[in-house]
Amino acid sequence: MSDKTTALVTGANKGIGYEIAAGLGALGWSVGVGARDDERREAAVEKLRAAGVDAFGVPLDVTDDASVAAAAALLEERGHLDVLVNNAGITGGFDQEPTKADPAVIRTVVETNVIGVMRVIDALLPLLRRSASPRIVNLSSSVGSLTRQSLDNGQTGPLSMAYAPSKTFLNGITVQYAKALKDTNILINAGCPGFVATDLNGFRGVRTPEQGAAIAIHLATLPDDGPTGGFFEDAGPVPW
Ligand SMILES: NC(=O)c1ccc[n+]([C@@H]2O[C@H](COP(=O)([O-])OP(=O)(O)OC[C@H]3O[C@@H](n4cnc5c(N)ncnc54)[C@H](OP(=O)(O)O)[C@@H]3O)[C@@H](O)[C@H]2O)c1
Repeated sequence: MSDKTTALVTGANKGIGYEIAAGLGALGWSVGVGARDDERREAAVEKLRAAGVDAFGVPLDVTDDASVAAAAALLEERGHLDVLVNNAGITGGFDQEPTKADPAVIRTVVETNVIGVMRVIDALLPLLRRSASPRIVNLSSSVGSLTRQSLDNGQTGPLSMAYAPSKTFLNGITVQYAKALKDTNILINAGCPGFVATDLNGFRGVRTPEQGAAIAIHLATLPDDGPTGGFFEDAGPVPW
């Protein structure tokens, strides 16, 4: 068991999640690399360790109850958890125009981006409640901002019945959790990393994964009097 501040980052084997793990590790934290594929997870853990991070692997598929329960048991065995970063996410592809979208794709995206987050939070809350300064960070996206979508200025991506609404839904549950946890020391917020070059968008993003990780690291390290139930990007609050 380690006395160090301990974080779990879901989907940490690549992209923004990997850089969040690297950034939290650079603070001297112990970092659980949540990933569903054994080889990809172990490769990321090795790479992080080579960079000096106290990283450990956490087998984790956020859509699978048994996998999430096993991850919670593994963390319980290690002794404590202070910070949970719900980073794992999928787009479901971008053939999602209204009237043509496949309901099966929408279900899969919501299962990962929303219900997966709920599943992981609910399984890990007992551990987080025991921490002195617990933080939960949900990787959202400004494409889920109804205000920005309504501006219709092309900044919220292509028409989307699955990905963008899944992030709106994620923002909604972030507020619900914040209300339910308002009498605890747990701060829970949603963060947008900006448009980052990763597999998620065929590397068309304009920011680096390291730049994208910054908002999650900021929200993971908020002081005890920091905000909860908010939605932020590097420049400040994002309108709902
Ligand atoms: N890139 C952007 O421009 C952008 C903008 C706004 C928000 N975001 C959000 O930022 C987060 C990270 O995105 P990214 O761009 O870094 O994407 P990415 O490179 O595609 O990485 C996504 C990560 O999520 C994991 N994942 C997917 N489904 C999972 C599941 N069921 N269980 C566990 N892990 C799962 C993937 O694992 P595998 O390797 O096994 O597939 C991968 O590690 C996502 O929530 C995304 O919506 C990204």
